[in-house]
Amino acid sequence: MQEPTIQKLFDLTGRVALITGGSGYLGQALSRALAEAGALVVIGSREQNRAQSVADALPSPWGVIHRAVALDHLNESSLNEGFDAAVSAAGRVDILINNGQQGHALDLTNVTAEAFNKDLQNATGYFLLARRLRDHVVSRSVPGSIVMIGSMYGVVGSYPDAYEGICAASPVQYHTLKGGIVHMTRHLAVYWAKDNVRVNCLSPGPFPSEKAPSQMVERLKVKSPAGRMGEPHELKGPLLLLVSDAGSYVTGQNLLVDGGWTAW
Ligand SMILES: NC(=O)c1ccc[n+]([C@@H]2O[C@H](COP(=O)([O-])OP(=O)(O)OC[C@H]3O[C@@H](n4cnc5c(N)ncnc54)[C@H](OP(=O)(O)O)[C@@H]3O)[C@@H](O)[C@H]2O)c1
Repeated sequence: MQEPTIQKLFDLTGRVALITGGSGYLGQALSRALAEAGALVVIGSREQNRAQSVADALPSPWGVIHRAVALDHLNESSLNEGFDAAVSAAGRVDILINNGQQGHALDLTNVTAEAFNKDLQNATGYFLLARRLRDHVVSRSVPGSIVMIGSMYGVVGSYPDAYEGICAASPVQYHTLKGGIVHMTRHLAVYWAKDNVRVNCLSPGPFPSEKAPSQMVERLKVKSPAGRMGEPHELKGPLLLLVSDAGSYVTGQNLLVDGGWTAW
């Protein structure tokens, strides 16, 4: 076999990528990474109109028309209808990015059983969508790539000092959820490797949006080895490595992009 060039390895031309939560703070940058690399991107949001406006704003270097679907991953019929709509609008799906996140801002002092269980359902939705992608690519006899968006808080405990006196601590159910997503990644990767379906996790460190309390952000900066917060574009390259042929022998891994936070 002729060795592929680095340009070919990172090229997503001809691939279709579905991303959930594509309207979000990080979701928009991740979507642009996929589009700029040549993929046809299907934006998933709980609101069709919101998804459509994000899809319309994406770059299209080779003239593909990006698509939009309504998809709520906490609702089984909605996630199945959203996946079907993506296949019907784009013709197929080769790459799935499970990025959407719905949670309660309740910490270990006041979270209810109902809120805790509801937040864990994000993992159920990630799994059901991943299985749809796996079955879909296997039925077409083509490779597939799945990326779960985890978190550094799926690997390490909270940093209580950052939140004390400012806002709720990072929720215990969020840590439980993200740790579960990191480990689900390994389990699915093992089962689906021979199906030519790779499953990896991309775990951001601190990437606070402008909505985050500035005092808390300052405390996070002090703790970070890099001394600063991540910028959404700093997830674009790592995502591309995982979804493209550049990462063709990478599966079951959790890539932490955290400015060194978990290296302490
Ligand atoms: N920002 C950080 O510092 C950070 C750090 C570590 C990990 N992460 C992870 O990165 C991912 C993106 O975070 P973000 O900061 O970009 O958050 P965000 O701006 O709040 O975006 C999350 C997106 O999820 C979508 N969403 C919410 N509930 C959903 C559901 N039930 N079904 C489908 N989509 C749903 C929302 O889109 P619609 O309202 O349009 O449906 C929203 O755009 C999350 O998984 C988060 O846990 C973020």
